[in-house]
Amino acid sequence: MKTVKVKTGRPYDILIQHNILPQAGEYIRPLTKAIRAVVVSDSNVAPLYAESVMKSLAANGFEVSLFTFQAGESAKRLATIEKMYLHFFEHNITRTDIVVALGGGVTGDMAGFAAASYLRGIDFVQIPTSLLSQVDSSVGGKTGVDLASGKNLVGAFWQPVLVLIDPETLHTLPEKFYTDGLGEVIKYGCIRDRCLFERLEKENARDFIDDVIYECVSIKRNVVENDERDTGERAILNFGHTFGHALEKLTHYTGLTHGEAVSAGAAILTRITEKKGLTEQGTARRLEKLLEKYHLPTDAAFELADIAAATRGDKKSTGKSVQFVFLKNIGECYIHKIDTADFGEFFGIG
Ligand SMILES: NC(=O)c1ccc[n+]([C@@H]2O[C@H](COP(=O)([O-])OP(=O)(O)OC[C@H]3O[C@@H](n4cnc5c(N)ncnc54)[C@H](O)[C@@H]3O)[C@@H](O)[C@H]2O)c1
Repeated sequence: MKTVKVKTGRPYDILIQHNILPQAGEYIRPLTKAIRAVVVSDSNVAPLYAESVMKSLAANGFEVSLFTFQAGESAKRLATIEKMYLHFFEHNITRTDIVVALGGGVTGDMAGFAAASYLRGIDFVQIPTSLLSQVDSSVGGKTGVDLASGKNLVGAFWQPVLVLIDPETLHTLPEKFYTDGLGEVIKYGCIRDRCLFERLEKENARDFIDDVIYECVSIKRNVVENDERDTGERAILNFGHTFGHALEKLTHYTGLTHGEAVSAGAAILTRITEKKGLTEQGTARRLEKLLEKYHLPTDAAFELADIAAATRGDKKSTGKSVQFVFLKNIGECYIHKIDTADFGEFFGIG
């Protein structure tokens, strides 16, 4: 088993091990005095994995119930959270009980937010089952839901008490979501880990996925420990996201998956910064080649002017400026703010 310790305000462990799901209860029991545990999962993941997790929780003395919702980003709304609260109420969940998020990033974000807010906060455990959630969203304590006006606009910082990662679950993950997760993996290589990037170039990520998960989680742990509340360094995790979110907006959240949008955004931005001499020569081509290898896009059918304009409402913008993450080279990045008044000059658009 690999263990990563996260030293945030409330510290916790991330345990990475194959076939850990049937032992979930044994790892959770010592961390809580909870009588009841609610497993939160979606309509795809629950039929595959809920029974084994629930059995293990019951065997470790928890009274267990299951809350499921229709899989997909469209469920990540306050309406689902309200149904979750009602389930908690009807199952007599108290402040000392525990929520177990079993699923991808949508499940983790929602279960975490419900746990953060129900009775002003109860403990929760993350059991991420998608690649994206195993390498990224289950760590760091960002929880929340979408509004009609935009993604992740309502939420809370609420760290889990434990993260259990079982790479076996990736065997049932549909290909397109695997690819989506690899977009985030490549991001980690770009911003912090040249060795990971080079290994992704030379080998196939699937052949060393346990190491991939461990490396990504370790990078995220470091970044989150330095900036738990996302007021500084944590922004580097948004490499590719500023243009990526703009592309998602321009395609009305239907044309591109999140991973595809971020990949295209990263490639477009890096071509620009390399041309301007802000990024080491050759970096953009290397990034493009790696994205192509993993079937991720490197461009989008929009004018740069439209992409740049669509970044103005980005969550990381201040109104007057937009925050970008630029690569210095593979493995090194920095945060750069651009005044919206300077967009024309910076991006060479009219
Ligand atoms: N909190 C954070 O720090 C953070 C970071 C990045 C992304 N996110 C959020 O994560 C979400 C995206 O995460 P995601 O891609 O995991 O989405 P998701 O939870 O919708 O999972 C993707 C799909 O895969 C299915 N699935 C998951 N695991 C499976 C498995 N093992 N076998 C079969 N099917 C499986 C799900 O049912 C779903 O259909 C977004 O809402 C995004 O905002 C949060």
